[in-house]
Amino acid sequence: MHLSVRPAAASDLPFFHEICLKTGFYGEDATSLCGDHLILGELYAAPYLFHDIDLCFVALQDGTPAGYCVGSADTLDFARWMESSWLPAIRARYQDRQTPERRASDFERKVFRSLAARPEGFDPELRPWLADYPAHLHVDLLPALQGKGFAKALVDAFCRELRSRDCPGVHLDVSARNPRAIRFYEKMGFEVLVHGDGGLLMGKKT
Ligand SMILES: CC(C)(COP(=O)(O)OP(=O)(O)OC[C@H]1O[C@@H](n2cnc3c(N)ncnc32)[C@H](O)[C@@H]1OP(=O)(O)O)[C@@H](O)C(=O)NCCC(=O)NCCS
Repeated sequence: MHLSVRPAAASDLPFFHEICLKTGFYGEDATSLCGDHLILGELYAAPYLFHDIDLCFVALQDGTPAGYCVGSADTLDFARWMESSWLPAIRARYQDRQTPERRASDFERKVFRSLAARPEGFDPELRPWLADYPAHLHVDLLPALQGKGFAKALVDAFCRELRSRDCPGVHLDVSARNPRAIRFYEKMGFEVLVHGDGGLLMGKKT
């Protein structure tokens, strides 16, 4: 098996969806929990390819993307772009969704709720740590690539790009239900900034 990391390309989009779905349930496969197989990728992976592709990196397994690190150097700017340019069409599409609510899993219902507008969520005064950690990232690898150093290589590539832009720090949210990821982030030098209800907000200076 030949393994490598490279900057992402727009044509990687289908693989972003697949990776996001197969790791979307607190690091485990969300396929059986999401009747709609696109929603996770549409929220947490695909938009980054369109917002700032230079902050997207992929890990390849035999030439095929099997992991990514994506994010934004300016979380507030990204949130505004999501509201104005990305989410309206997605919200409209899911409004007409025919799947009966009773057939959706609790997890899928939670994902759908996060589609709703959250204007207060992006008030910088509610997020004082954004000044020091304005960037955010997501890193996800299919099981075949996990534990081989690729997540580290992807996060390092992401942080190098942030440094070249004089971006001081990066944050991320991680669920308490994903202890493996928490230990990985600690190993990568992330520190806990906020203890939340269901998880941690962690940050790392670039
Ligand atoms: C969480 C995840 C990104 C970690 O990736 P990984 O492939 O295990 O990490 P790497 O192989 O690059 O490991 C990098 C370093 O972290 C260490 N590490 C990784 N996971 C660890 C863990 N759970 N506990 C302790 N150390 C860990 C490795 O030993 C390695 O250390 P070294 O450089 O000294 O050898 C990966 O398991 C994954 O994609 N999981 C599914 C999706 C997911 O949960 N994403 C995070 C959502 S918040």
